[in-house]
Amino acid sequence: MLSGKHILLGITGGIAAYKTTFLVRLLIKAGADVKVVLTESAATFVSPLTLATLSKNPVHTSFVEEGEEGSVAWNNHVELGLWADLMLVAPATANTLSKMANGTCDNLLLATYLSAKCPVFFAPAMDLDMYKHPSSKASFKKLQSFGNIMIPAASGELASGLHGEGRMAEPEDIVNFLNHHLSKDLPLGQKKVLITAGPTYEAIDPVRFIGNHSSGLMGCELAKRAAQLGAEVILVLGPTHLSLTDSQVQVLRVTSAEEMYQAAHEHYADMDIAICAAAVADYRPKTIADQKIKKQEDEFTIELVKNKDILYSLGRQKKKQFLVGFALETENEVENAKGKLKKKNLDAIVLNSLNDSGAGFGKPTNKITYIDKNLRIKTFDVKTKAAVALDIFNEIIASIHA
Ligand code: CTP
Repeated sequence: MLSGKHILLGITGGIAAYKTTFLVRLLIKAGADVKVVLTESAATFVSPLTLATLSKNPVHTSFVEEGEEGSVAWNNHVELGLWADLMLVAPATANTLSKMANGTCDNLLLATYLSAKCPVFFAPAMDLDMYKHPSSKASFKKLQSFGNIMIPAASGELASGLHGEGRMAEPEDIVNFLNHHLSKDLPLGQKKVLITAGPTYEAIDPVRFIGNHSSGLMGCELAKRAAQLGAEVILVLGPTHLSLTDSQVQVLRVTSAEEMYQAAHEHYADMDIAICAAAVADYRPKTIADQKIKKQEDEFTIELVKNKDILYSLGRQKKKQFLVGFALETENEVENAKGKLKKKNLDAIVLNSLNDSGAGFGKPTNKITYIDKNLRIKTFDVKTKAAVALDIFNEIIASIHA
């Protein structure tokens, strides 16, 4: 959500200013371009050099700055204000909030605030009695009436040693707040998406398991794409070397089909969309040996029992969710996929055929056929799994809005 965005961070003089170093790191990690403006008092709490190094941009505290060999530079607040896609004042002290609310313009940060045309967020930080004071509340209200967006303070231990409301929201929470706000108008804004992905490993003994070659790539691409489209995502991911770091995606690592079943069911009730892309083992050993099984006879048999079908069970419990399954077929592909769609009470099924070159486990590409619940069939060309994920969500979004 923040990738490529120009973020202007205004830091004012409160002890929480030290946390802005982490905040800048998180914004940069999220792909944002960050410029920082500090009040003089903020610069006594956090070093401009640290912020300039982390943001990879010059940091400004005053309208006029002296450069090398006596040169003097003018920091243009109008240019800075217009550069920003989003301005964030954090920490926002009672003093600065009051000045912002009343049009006072006695430093670079305030002049930039008055010049900015972009959405402005402010994250108050003050002691609990200051936070509760009618004057602070009046500032919050007035700023909100201008369309500025307040990131409420949290409760906890304050610099004064007192406990209560007034701590600046943690950097991670600020970033999540911004992400959430920016995603609201996207196609999957305010939607929750559950995705199962990867293989499952079914233990035989402490060192062996039954598994399959799924890498989980298709499911991870679906999770990333859902987040880009504005959703909050829970990815239930089987054992794979892949990892995913995205503040919009909560990754729940599982190993066995039973663990995947539990994790998916725990979150399903809250979801708007669920996609089962995992290659779940259909069977597991009836018993798991406590110790490593020793080699003895020439022939060896493992008794297997059926795993629960996660998708089938989600289909039975379906209420508001748009439920999508995958089918990997080698023969009578379309007929088998349609059978699974009906049997598992799905809204759509994505068919991969192992007969298609460019499709299947471990490959960077996939070739899919999308079948909706009216049995309308749409085939797609071989594409990267990231592009396939977009095709799938375009179909889902079209159905949801139909
Ligand atoms: N699936 C699941 N839980 C299982 C087995 C499968 O959630 N225990 C889901 C998969 O994630 C996929 C869909 O069911 O979305 C179809 O999986 P697939 O293996 O193609 O079909 P099965 O129903 O297992 O049937 P079969 O193996 O007989 O083809």
